Amino acid sequence: MFRILIGVFCAVLWSPVSQALSPGLQVAKQWKLLRYNFEPQAPISDPNFYNPQNVLITGVAVTNDRIFVATPKLFSGVPSTVSWVSKAQFGDSPTLQAFPDWTFSNTGRSDFNCSDLILTSVYRLRLDSCNRIWLLDAGISRSLEDYEITCPPKILVVDLATDRVVRRIDFPPEVLRGESLFTNMVIDETTAKGCDDVFVYITDTVEPGIIVYDSGKDVTWRVSHPAMYPDPDFAQSEIHEHRFVLMDGVVGLTFDERTGVVYFQPLATDRVFSVHKNVLRAGPLPDNKMLDVKLVGKKSSQGIGLAVSPFDSSLIFSPLSETAIASWNPTTNQQSVLAFDRDQLQFVADITTTKSEPGVIYAIASKFHRFFLKNLNPNEFNNRIVRLELPAGNSLLGHRVALPAAPTHNSLLNYGIYNTHGQTSTNALQTYFTSPALTTPFTTKTPFKFESGGIVNYAARNPFTALNQGEAFPPSKATRDNYQRSYLDTLVGTTAPAATTRVVSVPPTAFSNRHSGYYYQRATRSLGQQ
Ligand SMILES: *[C@@H]1O[C@H](CO)[C@@H](O)[C@H](O)[C@H]1NC(C)=O
Repeated sequence: MFRILIGVFCAVLWSPVSQALSPGLQVAKQWKLLRYNFEPQAPISDPNFYNPQNVLITGVAVTNDRIFVATPKLFSGVPSTVSWVSKAQFGDSPTLQAFPDWTFSNTGRSDFNCSDLILTSVYRLRLDSCNRIWLLDAGISRSLEDYEITCPPKILVVDLATDRVVRRIDFPPEVLRGESLFTNMVIDETTAKGCDDVFVYITDTVEPGIIVYDSGKDVTWRVSHPAMYPDPDFAQSEIHEHRFVLMDGVVGLTFDERTGVVYFQPLATDRVFSVHKNVLRAGPLPDNKMLDVKLVGKKSSQGIGLAVSPFDSSLIFSPLSETAIASWNPTTNQQSVLAFDRDQLQFVADITTTKSEPGVIYAIASKFHRFFLKNLNPNEFNNRIVRLELPAGNSLLGHRVALPAAPTHNSLLNYGIYNTHGQTSTNALQTYFTSPALTTPFTTKTPFKFESGGIVNYAARNPFTALNQGEAFPPSKATRDNYQRSYLDTLVGTTAPAATTRVVSVPPTAFSNRHSGYYYQRATRSLGQQ
């Protein structure tokens, strides 16, 4: 019944002109399989060092002249986890240049020391305003195979004028959990007085939480919330005929500098959430306090990459099943499909704006699902960096593109519980994103007491590992009652909290007794003089 209703709805709205849908989408770079500028002595015939069918891009950063990519060690055979290519040409398939250079690669090596300047596995990289690139090293090798904790996570900051590391940030062990996986970050420079006075918000995907690093004070803490956990109903994602199960927690992350809102999403969810920077900056949560997280809305399918339009603060997202990049304006509730391409927009793991080209986004689209399912076609383009000019300001209003092929699952059409009149409008794009915040007056209520410390055994194996390795299967989506309101649906609200600093009265204890309600400090090494 559900499927039939959707079919009828979309048949009415789907216009046949949708074939020429994305005139603005440009392919900046594309690769069937990734190649590197190997050194002559590199053991390239050893599949533990280089296995091109195991190397895919999940993060991208763009400067005036270079495009940087992150290729994390999801599987064995990733020779360099950070690389760059020249931005000069478009549409080519250049050889990746190891970054900063090959001495940073620890692939297939056992002679390294985690204190060395090495990189194990980088998922995302971000640029700051000081011409530096921040590399977030998760430290985990083969995260989708045997999940080896190779080194503790860290950040290396590289000056792009010299390609030298100028700063190293090691995290205090107290903010790490047994299987922590640091996958994404935003650099909040909104109150910075200098290059090293920023806040950094980091996602822990496997032990779900957000790590806050105050680089001015050099202190770190972590916060968590049920919204950062994967939703078993959305463990299975679907791109065309390929289905895969990944119970990943919070991984999509972006920051609106204008409003101070941090948007985030787990992979296994149909929701996008937000938390204000003042909430994150206020310090660790006292016992029995809930982090002030808001539900932003529901999407038509799972996704990772998020960005914010510098023109109108629209949230840019990419629902996987729809193979599209879409935007949603939190003020006007206006939606738009910015680009749709069945081949070129599969699995958009990162979307980024760049100061070198204001009003433009770059995104990385890969056939991640086919790498994961081991059914990659090496003759197809499996990694693409695409470029898209965002519609400026008010031109978003009335910007119409035809609706792409209908999603047959996870649809929002039955999500009419908050919006009994809006869905009848002719705006077909409402099927991509529905925001309860704009239609519902009720306020956030905490339905239970949240215990933030004392009872959790952090040494225990992460319960999602089995799911991620395909050992178990989540409950069927069909068993979900679409009208039943989840606790996460009650997190509605739009007001920004005032800037405050929490005072946590309990003094820090030995780190065998971990607790989220503390600040943790660890010496940061300045490498500027090297
Ligand atoms: C790694 O390097 C650090 C700092 O140089 C040193 O203190 C430590 O002993 C080294 N560890 C090993 C296993 O060599």
